[in-house]
Amino acid sequence: MCGIFGIVCASKRDDLGEVMVRAARRLSYRGYDSVGMATFTGNGQIDLRKDVGDITKTNAQLHFDAMTGDRGLLQLRWSTFGRPSTTNAQPHLTMNRDMVGAHNGNITNNPFVREDLQAEGATFESENDGETLVLLVEKYLSRGMSPEEAYTQVSHDTEGDFAQVFMRRDKHEMYAAKMGSSLYLGLADDFICVSSDLPSILEFTRKYVRLENGDLVIFDDKNYRIFRLPEQQYVERPVTVSDIDIENANKEPFAHYFIKEIHEQVEGTHNLLSLYDGTSVWQDFIEALDSADRVFMTGAGTSYHALLLGAYYFNKLARLPVFPSWGSQMLPLYAASVREGDLIVLVSQSGETKDLMNVYEWAKAKGVARTFSVVNNIGSTLALHCDGMIPICSYLEISVPATKTYTNQVLCFLYAAMKLAEHRGIPYEGITWDDLHRVPRLIQETIEMSQQPVKELASVLLEHPSMHILGHDMTHPVAMEGALKMKEVVYNHPEGMYSSEFKHGPLASVDEGYPVIFVSLPENEDLVLSHMNEVICRQGIVVHVGQPSKGYDKIAHYKLPIPAMGNPYLRRR
Ligand code: F6R
Repeated sequence: MCGIFGIVCASKRDDLGEVMVRAARRLSYRGYDSVGMATFTGNGQIDLRKDVGDITKTNAQLHFDAMTGDRGLLQLRWSTFGRPSTTNAQPHLTMNRDMVGAHNGNITNNPFVREDLQAEGATFESENDGETLVLLVEKYLSRGMSPEEAYTQVSHDTEGDFAQVFMRRDKHEMYAAKMGSSLYLGLADDFICVSSDLPSILEFTRKYVRLENGDLVIFDDKNYRIFRLPEQQYVERPVTVSDIDIENANKEPFAHYFIKEIHEQVEGTHNLLSLYDGTSVWQDFIEALDSADRVFMTGAGTSYHALLLGAYYFNKLARLPVFPSWGSQMLPLYAASVREGDLIVLVSQSGETKDLMNVYEWAKAKGVARTFSVVNNIGSTLALHCDGMIPICSYLEISVPATKTYTNQVLCFLYAAMKLAEHRGIPYEGITWDDLHRVPRLIQETIEMSQQPVKELASVLLEHPSMHILGHDMTHPVAMEGALKMKEVVYNHPEGMYSSEFKHGPLASVDEGYPVIFVSLPENEDLVLSHMNEVICRQGIVVHVGQPSKGYDKIAHYKLPIPAMGNPYLRRR
């Protein structure tokens, strides 16, 4: 996905590099292939340093934190055009060496723009589309155009979704264009900065401006102006003062944010229940679901797994069928049949994920269906622009792998399904409000009782580059989410799938010592035991995650027990 950050200060700062490294660390989840930084050193020289690797490795080699200057920009790269290498790393210099810029996102017509520039005499040092964009901006600025005119031309010449930061020797200012990728402007007391995400801005200031697609912002250390490229006019955008206290967001006493946020599920679920119980914040969601002809729910990665589990809750408790999809799949799978009266629910922690933005923009342009967002970031594009919004109240997510936000998304759906059932007068069984309010305590118990068995199991699984994680019924999305988490954290290859499907081919991958993890519900015990036996016959390793029972205890080689809950709705990974 890549990340960019740019900053303009009043005069030379000896700690500019340190400030930029702090921003880069916040953005580090956006790219580990290479990192680069460029500053104007105060005497008009450009100091450009870049190399392959993540921010920790590249900073150790290149000492970004020792860089000085009055302006600087940086990029963290996740390769798309051109392999990870120092030359393909961003930022890129212009041909005249007077300007420098970096982007994130994709210029999808890069090969054609590059060919056109080459035909006009441009020479490229890399294969990267970021360089194409830099040379394109240079082409128009060097013709004497203003930034507004130059970027208008650039917006006509390029296709794709991206954002760019750019600075030049002869002007104490910076340009940043938002053309489909996220971009925020931060207003600090002694500088102005721009970044791909909000947490890296909140690192320095709580005052920020959310930019819109088609915005070009031209800024120095005190002033900024925003020019709308499509409408060719200046606009004012509201300044938001965030109440998020990022300075106090530190991981102590935990080793890293991933484990910290696993523990924060206890407080997070408690906060969500308190908010929903004490307000009618969920009311609009229930009404939107109830009045819709059909409900489509879409999300990416972890958010998709949460909404898939939500689809089970809505069906089982409120008799509401839901059409689930990945964000990128929603339009090819359903667009032709979405009609007036339908509701599209967009599920996203960040509220900025591009695949979902595409669905939102399509729905808005067509005017066919209502949109509703289930989000954590309530200042995000989806939160602000959809017809309705319900927050999941997980506070700031810093860890790259999502954990506490998944749990709160799931809890939000369970809460909504129970409310909807009551609203519709549908009697449901298997869960009570008291059960729901036991969730924070159950999570605490699960964390406590898992410590030792998880350590033992991890030492066994570490030996295996590949494994399957199987779920049945409501544990299917949980298995998929478990597999995604392991891929992201361990970089191995676990495959999450529906356990009944396993025998239709994938079972062939089991041989002696191959691990298969079963996430189970007690009510599916007979079926799951027979699936476990299929693995045992092939001498595979069977792991059971779920409420203990005599059957599972007898068959499984390893067990990760969870507390007995007495109802089928609260099983967790
Ligand atoms: C997984 C993870 C990603 C996100 C996905 C969607 O741990 O973090 O799979 O879940 O990129 O992001 P949001 O929910 O912000 O739309």
